[in-house]
Amino acid sequence: MISEPFSESARHSIVMAQEEAKRLGDQDIHTCHLLLGILAESNSAAARALQAFGVTLDAARAQAEKHSRGPGPAAEAGFSDRSKRIIESAFGEARMLNHNHISAEHLTLSLLKKNDGSAAAILTALGADRDAIRAGIIASIKVTEQATLDVRQEIATGRSIYLKSQLREDAVDGDALIQLQRWLDEAYEAKVAEPNAMALSTVDPEGQPSARVVLLRKLDADGLVFYTSYLSRKARAMQHNSRAALLFYWAELERQVRVEGTIEPVSDEQSDEYFASRPRGHQLGAWASEQSEIVESRELLDQRLHQFESRFEGQDVPRPHSWGGYILKPLRVEFWQGRPNRLHDRLLYTREAQQWQIVRLSP
Ligand SMILES: Cc1cc2nc3c(=O)[nH]c(=O)nc-3n(C[C@H](O)[C@H](O)[C@H](O)COP(=O)(O)O)c2cc1C
Repeated sequence: MISEPFSESARHSIVMAQEEAKRLGDQDIHTCHLLLGILAESNSAAARALQAFGVTLDAARAQAEKHSRGPGPAAEAGFSDRSKRIIESAFGEARMLNHNHISAEHLTLSLLKKNDGSAAAILTALGADRDAIRAGIIASIKVTEQATLDVRQEIATGRSIYLKSQLREDAVDGDALIQLQRWLDEAYEAKVAEPNAMALSTVDPEGQPSARVVLLRKLDADGLVFYTSYLSRKARAMQHNSRAALLFYWAELERQVRVEGTIEPVSDEQSDEYFASRPRGHQLGAWASEQSEIVESRELLDQRLHQFESRFEGQDVPRPHSWGGYILKPLRVEFWQGRPNRLHDRLLYTREAQQWQIVRLSP
C-alpha cells in the first residue's frame, strides 16, 4: 500500500502508525494508530492543526490505550479495513485539492471526515472540532501552495529552491557508507546523469588543492574505490598527501555528499579484475594515454592508440602497471539535503573507534 504516491511526510506518518500499534501491542493497525502516527510527525501542518485543538500526541495516546485490542490472530496482521478506507479516501482528498500525491495533511483530512473507528472516538473524547481542524488544514495547505508559488518566483530570479525531501536523524542509517549506498541507489532510480561521478580533491606538495571528476566503481564497508593512472597529477599528489576528499552532487535530488578520509591503492588483484572487465577500447586507452602529461597533438594520441591496438592484436590487453585503483577510507561523511528557506538539512558522520557518530550541522 505504501508504494502509492505518498509524500515523505505521509509515508513517515504511516510508518509511525505501525510503530504506535507495536507500542500498544496491537497486531493490526487501526485508525487510532494512524492518528497517533500523524501526531508523531510533529512538524507537519496536520499535526500542528490537530494540536491547536487540543489533540496532542500524549492526550491521544492516553485515549488510544482504551481502544487497544492487543495481539490478534496472525491472519489479521496489517491495516484494519477502516484504516485502509481512510488511506484510500486520502486519495480523494488529495484529488479534490488538485494534488497528485498524498501528504500527511490529506490522510488527516480523511481521518477527520469519518465518523466511525477508533480515531473518531479519540477526537470526540478530546472534544476536537473536526470541521474547524479540517478548515485549518485546508487553509494551511493553501498557504504552503502560496509559499511554493513565491518560491517559483525565486526560480525566475535565478535563486534555487529546495523542496524535494528531508533528512532526519531517525530515518538515516547509522552507518555512513550504507546511507551513501541508499542515496546512490536513489540517484540511479531518479535517473540523474552519471550518479557515480564524484569530484576528487587532493593537495600537492606545495599545498595547492586541485579537484577533478572520477567515477565511483565500488562502494563497500571499507570505502570508495575509483580507478586512474598511478602517474597522473592526482596520483602524485596522493603519494605526497594521502588525505583526500570526494564530493557527489545530485542536482535533481537537491543532494550533496562530502566524503573526507585517507587514500591508499587497492590490491593488484583488484585492479587486474576491474581492468579485465573494461571495454577493450578503454583498456587500450589506458596504455595510450600518459595521463596529465603534455601531449604534442590529438593526432599523436590517436597514433598511440593504433600502436597499442597492433601490439595487443589477437590477445587480451594486460593492465599497465601504471594504472589501477585507489580506495578512500572515510573519516567524515556529510549528507546535505536542500530544504526551503535555505534551512537545509546537514547530517555529519564522523568515525571514531570504528563507530559512526552523527551530528546535525547548521546550514
Ligand atoms: C564524468 C567524468 C568522469 C571521469 N572519470 C574518471 C575516472 O574514473 N578516472 C580518471 O582517471 N579520470 C576520470 N575523469 C577525468 C578526470 O576528471 C581528470 O581529467 C583526469 O583524471 C586527470 O586528472 P589529473 O591530471 O588531476 O590527475 C573523468 C572526468 C569526467 C568529467
